Amino acid sequence: MDTVKKIDVLRSRLKEAIKDGKSVGLVPTMGFLHEGHLSLIKRARAENDLLVVSLFVNPTQFGPGEDLESYPRDLEKDAALCREKGADILFAPDAGEMYFEDYGTYVEVSGELTKGLCGKSRPSHFKGVTSVVSKLFNIVDPDRAYFGQKDAQQVAVIKRMVRDLNFDIEIVVCPIVREKDGLAKSSRNIYLSEEERKAALVLNKSLRAAAERISSGERNAYEIKAMIEKMIKEESLSSIDYVEVVDAESIKPIENLKGSVLVALAVSFGKARLIDNICLEVK
Ligand code: PAJ
Repeated sequence: MDTVKKIDVLRSRLKEAIKDGKSVGLVPTMGFLHEGHLSLIKRARAENDLLVVSLFVNPTQFGPGEDLESYPRDLEKDAALCREKGADILFAPDAGEMYFEDYGTYVEVSGELTKGLCGKSRPSHFKGVTSVVSKLFNIVDPDRAYFGQKDAQQVAVIKRMVRDLNFDIEIVVCPIVREKDGLAKSSRNIYLSEEERKAALVLNKSLRAAAERISSGERNAYEIKAMIEKMIKEESLSSIDYVEVVDAESIKPIENLKGSVLVALAVSFGKARLIDNICLEVK
C-alpha cells in the first residue's frame, strides 16, 4: 500500500488502474480509525479491484470553537491498519493540497436536509462535508463510495448531492458498529472520562427502548421523543443537543411513524458530542 499526499500522484496511479479496467472503491475518513471505519474498508475491499481510503481532517466542516485542532490524529497507526485491511492507496493530503489560500467554491445541499438535526447546532457543517466529498469524488472518480449509517444525516445529504449533481457513483451504506456494551464506535469517544463513558451507554439503551416501544405498536413520534429525552436526562452528565424522529430520506420531522423512520440524537457528555440513531421500517 502507498500513502499518497499529492493529488497529481494519486490521479496518475488511478489512471493506470482505470486503463486496466479496474473498479475503484473509495472510503472517505477523517482518520483515527476504529472498527466502524474498518467495516467500511472491509466491505469496499471485497467489492472493488482498487481500494482508496482517504484520510483528511477537513477544516471546512468544523465550526468556530469546535474540535478541529484537538481532533485525534495518528497517521502511522491508520496507515498500518489500512495496509492490514488490504487498501491499495491511502490518500492523506495536507490542508494546503485540498484548499488553496484563496479557495472559494462550495457545494451546498439546501433545505431541511441540512438545516435540521446536526445542521441546527452546526450550521456550516454539511456545506463543508459536501464540498470535501465532491472534491474527493472528482479526484478519485470511484465506482462506489462507502459511508456509515452512524452518520445518518450525512448519508441522506450525500445521497441527495449525488442525485442532484449527477455523480455516477454508487453510495454504499454500512451498518453502525458498536462496542460490546452498545456504545457506537466513534473517534470522539476518546474524549470521554470513565464516568462519562458509562453515562453515554444511555444513548443506545434509549434507542433500543424506543425500537421496542415502536415494535409494540407506538406510532406517536412525540411519545417516542419524550421517552428518549426522559431516559437521557436521568443521566446527570448528559446535555441533549437534539432528539428527533424524522423521515430517513428527507430528514423532515414526522408526527406519525410510517415508512423509513430515523430516530436520531446528539448528546454531549463533557466535551464529547456524540451522535447515534436507529433506522426502522414502520408499517
Ligand atoms: P469520519 O467521522 O472519520 O467517518 C468516516 C466514515 O466512517 C463515515 O462514513 C462514518 O459514518 C463512518 N463511521 C464512523 N463511525 C462508524 C461506526 N461506529 N459504524 C459504522 N460506520 C462508522 O464522516 C466523516 O469522517 C467525514 O464527514 C467525511 C465523510 C470523511 C468527510 O470529511
